[in-house]
Amino acid sequence: MEKIKQLKERFDAFVDGVEFVKSPQGLYEPVAYTVLQKGKRLRPMLCLLACDLFGGEYHEAKYPALALETAHNFTLIHDDIMDQAPIRRGMATVYKKWNTNQAILSGDAALFMAYDFITRTHRPVETLALLNQVMLEICEGQQMDMEFETRAEVSIPEYLEMIRLKTAVLLATSLQIGAVVADADEEDQRNLYDFGIGIGMAFQLQDDILDCYSDVKVFGKVTGGDIVENKKTLMYLKALELASSEQKERLTALFSGEIAINPQRKIDEVIAIYDELHVKEEVERLMEDYYRQAYIALDTVKLPEEQKVHLRRYAEMLSGRDK
Ligand code: IPE
Ligand code: IPE
Ligand code: MG
Ligand code: MG
Ligand code: MG
Repeated sequence: MEKIKQLKERFDAFVDGVEFVKSPQGLYEPVAYTVLQKGKRLRPMLCLLACDLFGGEYHEAKYPALALETAHNFTLIHDDIMDQAPIRRGMATVYKKWNTNQAILSGDAALFMAYDFITRTHRPVETLALLNQVMLEICEGQQMDMEFETRAEVSIPEYLEMIRLKTAVLLATSLQIGAVVADADEEDQRNLYDFGIGIGMAFQLQDDILDCYSDVKVFGKVTGGDIVENKKTLMYLKALELASSEQKERLTALFSGEIAINPQRKIDEVIAIYDELHVKEEVERLMEDYYRQAYIALDTVKLPEEQKVHLRRYAEMLSGRDK
């Protein structure tokens, strides 16, 4: 626990000292606003913990970690436009606080800043290539997510592939980059990557559950946003699988975008159906499967078990999150 806390405090202090705002301020202020908000900083923490796991130097990982957080924040700035989300981390989203054009451009700037940060290590070519590949994969996942909103039929394997791309690969790559800067061998890099895919899949499933059931004051995002946006999450897909023909008809109609209904009433009605079908429990079961798969991958990393304890504990903390 001490190790996790120590790395987090060290990284937070490092980020506080980075100058995000240059001229023209209008471009950079939304970047600073977002990155300095202190989200969970999960991706940099995975990078730092992976580097530490293989005995790497903190100073080799801190800029790549910052790059990962900055690139993640870029995806959020654009994602909130696409999802029409007004609140994130309990604060107005960039396109709401400024405007959409500003969010597009400042988001772009954040991504290019990430590309600058990622090379500030002794393995710049590898880290840059990994960042590039993962950002493209996230775009692929986001494209699928967007297309699913208006598609009538989405299968569970398609949904799982979508969340692997939009979310899991970035957690996996964050771990891999930490391993690369610590000069871990390729087999260990791959096993750590697979650990990241497992926790990343579980992480997005949990995000989809929290989107239905959390309180905005805790979660920091508007509850029910996915339902309003007709997101074909696993909650929805499992509900369809378990629904009576009547419930199925109603759900499909509600998610077709063709019914004029007050958003809050739509949320209440959909969640009532999810509750009747115990969909949350189904999704939680799959989450646990992914955590199990993740730990199996971590077991195969060729290091003594006691060195893996911090990463394991960090993943356990994540599984109990409420924001
Ligand atoms: C939000 O990521 C986007 C998803 C992949 C669900 P986080 O939940 O890590 O967001 P912050 O950075 O902690 O706010
Ligand atoms: C997260 O998906 C994926 C990316 C931001 C790339 P969501 O759309 O579910 O994330 P939140 O819920 O807005 O954080
Ligand atoms: Mg989204
Ligand atoms: Mg979103
Ligand atoms: Mg979400």
